[in-house]
Amino acid sequence: MNPDALLFLFKDAILDKHRIRIVETVMTHLPIIIVHGGAGNWKDDRIPVGVEHVQNAAKSGFQALAEGGSAIDAAETCTMYMESCGGLNAGKGARPNQDGLLELDAMIVDGKNLQFGSVAAIIGIQNPISLARYIMEKTEYNFFAGENAKRVYEMMIKEGFRKEIEKGVVKAPKISPAGDTVGCVVVDEEGNIAATSSTGGISKKLPGRVGDSPIMGSGAYANETCGATATGYGEHIMRVVLSRMTVLYVEEGLDTQSAAQKGIDMFQNKTGSEAGIIVADKNGHFGFATNAKAMPTAIIQQKLSNLVTHTCLK
Ligand code: GLY
Repeated sequence: MNPDALLFLFKDAILDKHRIRIVETVMTHLPIIIVHGGAGNWKDDRIPVGVEHVQNAAKSGFQALAEGGSAIDAAETCTMYMESCGGLNAGKGARPNQDGLLELDAMIVDGKNLQFGSVAAIIGIQNPISLARYIMEKTEYNFFAGENAKRVYEMMIKEGFRKEIEKGVVKAPKISPAGDTVGCVVVDEEGNIAATSSTGGISKKLPGRVGDSPIMGSGAYANETCGATATGYGEHIMRVVLSRMTVLYVEEGLDTQSAAQKGIDMFQNKTGSEAGIIVADKNGHFGFATNAKAMPTAIIQQKLSNLVTHTCLK
């Protein structure tokens, strides 16, 4: 054989090998789920409890993926767990407002098509994340608030999108086995990204107050490249649109961990306040950062046994 042709074949083989290696490297990070249980001034004895909740939430979301669920299925399942566990500031465990009522905000974002569903200041339901998903998928709108959001909840139950097992409490979607604002970012095996945020808001808030959690780009954001979700004082997070900014840093070429840190540094410089952020990109790279005392975080990459947790203690 002509030596040039041989060299060409050889080069091509190396290239192919290289390509295969690149594909393998990229694929080995997916799927991924990263979950936080809220950044804040956690009491020392509450931190292990927070860690346990985010661990279980990550497992439930990962299980949904393992059973064939999409990133959105897993993100809803994982967030529902945190809303239902009673030990985090979301759903059942939310901090009451000044009237003593649990007044909830939540959002879900589908990075594939920049779609989102949000619900704010809703009272009397436990799982606003499912309602947020219903709003995103089944209505022509994106955001409902207050008493009238309850009418959309009634529509959701009537249409059988979710089954109500007791007043205001819906059954987890079939795919699922069942401090603070909570949230997760999920990237499924196809690289589709979903992000969520769910909260009871800040302590003793005035009824009607809404923070960052249901605000697209502030409480959470996802597109085809990357997803992020934030935790902290909503009035400050909204000023810098923290989740969108963090995703932008990744789009501009920063690695995910540097982007998370840059997001928090920028937030601190501009507001002097405390927050946390978690992020994952379409290849399964992730990052997390906080300038608060702690932010229980759990990550599962590829298989359940790869579960790791962090508390991000300063
Ligand atoms: N980050 C939640 C809130 O401020 O409402």
